[in-house]
This record gives sequence, structure tokens and C-alpha cells, in this order.
Amino acid sequence: MAQLWGGRFTKETDRLVYNFNASIGFDQKFYRQDIRGSIAHVKMLAKQNILTEEERDTIIRGLEGIQRDVENGTLKITSEYEDIHSFVEANLIERIGDTGKKLHTGRSRNDQVALDMKLYVRDEIDETESLLKTLLSVIDRIMRENVHTYMPGFTHLQKAQPVTLAHHFGAYFEMFRRDRERLLDVRKRMNTCPLGAGALAGTTYPLDRDYTARLLDFDGPTRNSMDSVSDRDYVIELLSALSTIMMHLSRFSEEICIWNTNEYRFVEIDDAYSTGSSIMPQKKNPDIAELVRGKTGRVYGALITMLTAMKGLPLAYNKDMQEDKELTFDAIDTVKGCLALFTGMLDTMKFRKDVMEASARRGFTNATDAADYLVGKGVPFRDAHGIIGRLVLHCIDRGCALDDLSLEEFRSFDSHFDRDIYDAISMKNCVERRNTAGAPGPAAMAAELEADREYLDRT
Ligand code: ARG
Repeated sequence: MAQLWGGRFTKETDRLVYNFNASIGFDQKFYRQDIRGSIAHVKMLAKQNILTEEERDTIIRGLEGIQRDVENGTLKITSEYEDIHSFVEANLIERIGDTGKKLHTGRSRNDQVALDMKLYVRDEIDETESLLKTLLSVIDRIMRENVHTYMPGFTHLQKAQPVTLAHHFGAYFEMFRRDRERLLDVRKRMNTCPLGAGALAGTTYPLDRDYTARLLDFDGPTRNSMDSVSDRDYVIELLSALSTIMMHLSRFSEEICIWNTNEYRFVEIDDAYSTGSSIMPQKKNPDIAELVRGKTGRVYGALITMLTAMKGLPLAYNKDMQEDKELTFDAIDTVKGCLALFTGMLDTMKFRKDVMEASARRGFTNATDAADYLVGKGVPFRDAHGIIGRLVLHCIDRGCALDDLSLEEFRSFDSHFDRDIYDAISMKNCVERRNTAGAPGPAAMAAELEADREYLDRT
């Protein structure tokens, strides 16, 4: 048990206490960030003449050696150390001797861990953001290929009006675009450097916090040192953004599960992204979509856990905050895994365009257009709504679609019907005449696709 703080203690820590307290099992995940932060710290200390240039170079070489050896597997991070900070410092001293003992000058593990977590979160935001961009590109590709692929649009999971596959996917494009912007927004707000805040009250050493911040690509140092060591807002904001990503992925997954049913048959999931049954030979299950939907709760759980962990904490640092790590790491890994797999599944999925279009033709998705037709002939909308409602009932009785009625039948319900009714309620016209901004018609969709392309090119 290698501890940094043994001085004022006369007894060994109880083994169970040691294990309960230790974080090495999980905070080793950010050894790279910890070393990066330490290198910036010693550069600043030397610049301020707190360390000599020689000491600086010796320490940096030692730190780089530790990183190299961890990466090539010759140095194992073990539970012999309490946390990653202790591991790095102890190994540094072992390597370079007494100079290593100067690394922690003007620093506390409180500002150190706040820095490490920020660096880690920032790196992971960048990775997640880029996975979202890949997903957006796949959605964009599918949209471009399906501007004229008709399908039913639903409300209450009941057929409502015909739309296109491009239009349906366009809704998800918007969701994931907002998700990406949310992540970048979190990144922007969190991008201040806590190093130099010390344990909570800064230090008497003449640290140059602006310099350290710059070395670590922050916009500047954090302001209040007590807030610097006890702020985990950015973790909560990240978990909230990640939860929203999962919520969107889960909705999309649910739709894919529905579309993949024997009843719908709108899509065919690629063999590489489906699984079979151990007993039923005919089965091809959408496990990836189900797992993505299922994993959503884990990420929500992390958000609620973190909000709860923080709600009763007096200033400044409290050990409760150590709880931020495991759940944040798990949430990030879960979201990254889900994004990668979901994107692969979508990219290889086949759409049964004929089935989608046939489905859009059933279920009276053109009833609104039939009512609008009568409005065009001077019938007030409320009356038109009633007339078409009665026509729909008649069709249900006869087991046919509105399009199948003869002109005489139409006329027996209202004298305003004419030959042009067939054209007005044809699937093609129902969709292609809807060109208000954001609608499924091809002119509106062309504008949407252009804006999407411009966004993907720009960001
Ligand atoms: N493992 C700790 C954490 O994750 C590091 C900070 C420890 N600081 C302290 N005063 N015990 O929060």
C-alpha cells in the first residue's frame, strides 16, 4: 500500500478501508491525461523559477518514460497504489530519485483530479462528436437516396399522412445535429483549467495559471479556486447530453424493431448486424437495436447518480466526488459503442421500398388531401372533414381505398367531386405537393438536404 500522505498517521490503513477508498481500479483510465497535466505543471514551475530547467527536464523525461512503459506493457498499473496520481508520482521517484519529489509542488490532488477529469471529458467529447458526425453522414446518404421513397407517416403509431423515407430520416438528422451541438456547447463552457487552485485556496507559490492553461489548450484558468476543485457541472452536462443521445438512439432503435417485424417488413437488417435463435431456425432478431434501446437506462442512471451525489456537498472538495469516474466512464463507453454499432447497422440496412409504399397506400393516408380537395372546390373545411369521414367509413365497409371509388360513388357523397379528385389524392401528389419549409415534398427536401450538406461541410 503506497500512500502519499502517511506522515501524520501512526497506524496502517485497514485493508478494507484502503480498498474502499482506492480509485486506481478505474482512474487508471486517465493516466495519459494525468501525465500530460503534470508535464504542463512542471513546465510552468520552471518558467516561474520554482524548479530549475534541469529538474524540469529530468521530471518530464521520467514522466514520458512512465507513459511509454505503461503503453508498451512493461509497467503495470496495480492496486498497490491508491490512485493514478500516487502511481505516477511513486514511479517517478523510483525512476529519477529525489527530483521526482518536487513534482507536486504547488499542487493538490484536488486540482489535479479536477484537471484530469476535464482533460478526459474533453477528449471523449471530441471522439463522441466525431462518431455523431459519421452517423449524420450515413443518415444524409440515406436521405439523398430516398427523396421519392414513399412511406406512411404516423401519429399515435397509426397511419397519418404519407411522407418519404428521406423526410423521416431528416427528423433524426435534426436530433443528432442538436446532440452534436450540445456536446460542443458543453466543451466550450467547461474549457477552463483548474490547475493552480490547490487543495481549495490556491497557493503561495507564484504560479502562472494562464501559462498552464495555455499549455493544456484551455481558454484560460478557472476563476474561483474553491469552485475549481468542487465543480462537476461539466460532468453533469455531459451526462445530460449523452442521455439525450441515447434517448434519440433508443427511439430510432424502437422504430427499427417495429419496421423489422414480420408485420411491417419495412427494413432488412444485414446478417452481420442480426442474430439468430438457439431453438427457432427461422429467426433473425434485431438484437443490436434492442441492446441500444436497453443500454439507455445505464446512461440515464449515471446522470441521476451524479446529480444526487452532488446535491448535498458542502464546499469544497469531498470524496463523494470520486464517484463521478466509474459512471461517467461507463456512460461514455456505452454511448460510443452504441453510436458505432448503430451507425454500422444503419449503413448496411436495406429498405423495402415497395412494402413501404404499399403500406402508405393503405390506411387512408390521403384522407386529409381529399378534404383539402373539397376545400379547393369551396366547401368549408369542417364540412369537408365530415364528408371524407363518411367516405372513409364507406370504404372500410367495402374493404377498399379512397382511390378505388368510382366518380359516381364520390358524387353520391358530395356533388363537388370531379375527375380531378383522383389526381388530387394520388400518393405522388399527396407527398410531392407538400413543399412548405420542412415538409416532405421534393422542393422542400432539396432545401433541407442543401442545408444539411452545408452543415456537414462546415463543421
Ligand atoms: N481519487 C480522488 C478523486 O477521484 C482524487 C482526489 C483525492 N483528493 C483527496 N483529497 N483525497 O476524487
